[in-house]
Amino acid sequence: MFNTTAWNRLRYSLYAPLYDAVAERAFRRARHRSLDQVTWQPGMRVLLVGAGTGLDLPWLPRDVEIHATDLSPAMVRRIERRAEALGMDVQAAEMDGEALAFPGEHFDVVVMHLIVAVMPDPAQGLAEARRVLRGDGQLCVMDKFQADDRPASAARRALNALTSAIATDITRQARPLLEGASFTIEQDTPVMMGTLFRALLARPTRPR
Ligand SMILES: C[S@@+](CC[C@H](N)C(=O)[O-])C[C@H]1O[C@@H](n2cnc3c(N)ncnc32)[C@H](O)[C@@H]1O
Repeated sequence: MFNTTAWNRLRYSLYAPLYDAVAERAFRRARHRSLDQVTWQPGMRVLLVGAGTGLDLPWLPRDVEIHATDLSPAMVRRIERRAEALGMDVQAAEMDGEALAFPGEHFDVVVMHLIVAVMPDPAQGLAEARRVLRGDGQLCVMDKFQADDRPASAARRALNALTSAIATDITRQARPLLEGASFTIEQDTPVMMGTLFRALLARPTRPR
């Protein structure tokens, strides 16, 4: 499979100058609806994983503490520029979402927009999100997913060999991934292209 961390760092550094032209308008409504599912409170500590050029920033409350991370240095530079242009105080850092350099239970909200279907090992990425989230924290995911109730067809899996190398995986299932990482899904809203793109709000599963 042609989906590795090194390849993603390289290709997203190449995509960075074009990213806004492709993704800004196309995902505006979906990312707004996704972030709208979060219950925001002043002073919350928020982590954006795979934050790209920072297209989520305009939709975030101004009275929260924002940490934005991405694998690609070119993306991190763009986040910093966007934050400055918006007059927002954002801590931006180059970081692999599968190995977050933050202590456990550090964040109130973790946002993963268009990254769960991109990272090579989404189970590891979600395990890291779970680790750094407080017990009552919120995970905010927006991405394209295969339906939870049936596996991807052979044709979709064949097409995935191409899409996962140049863009994104199209065979991942949200519910097994999130529940496998000990999250309980509270909201699951189709936000784009029928049910292909979904916005999910989840919390760490409480121990019984
Ligand atoms: C499709 S873009 C999404 C960007 C942004 N979240 C958005 O909603 O526009 C995927 C981003 O994830 C980053 N990325 C890919 N693999 C990653 C990883 N393992 N850890 C952190 N970021 C990663 C890429 O550099 C890219 O900026």
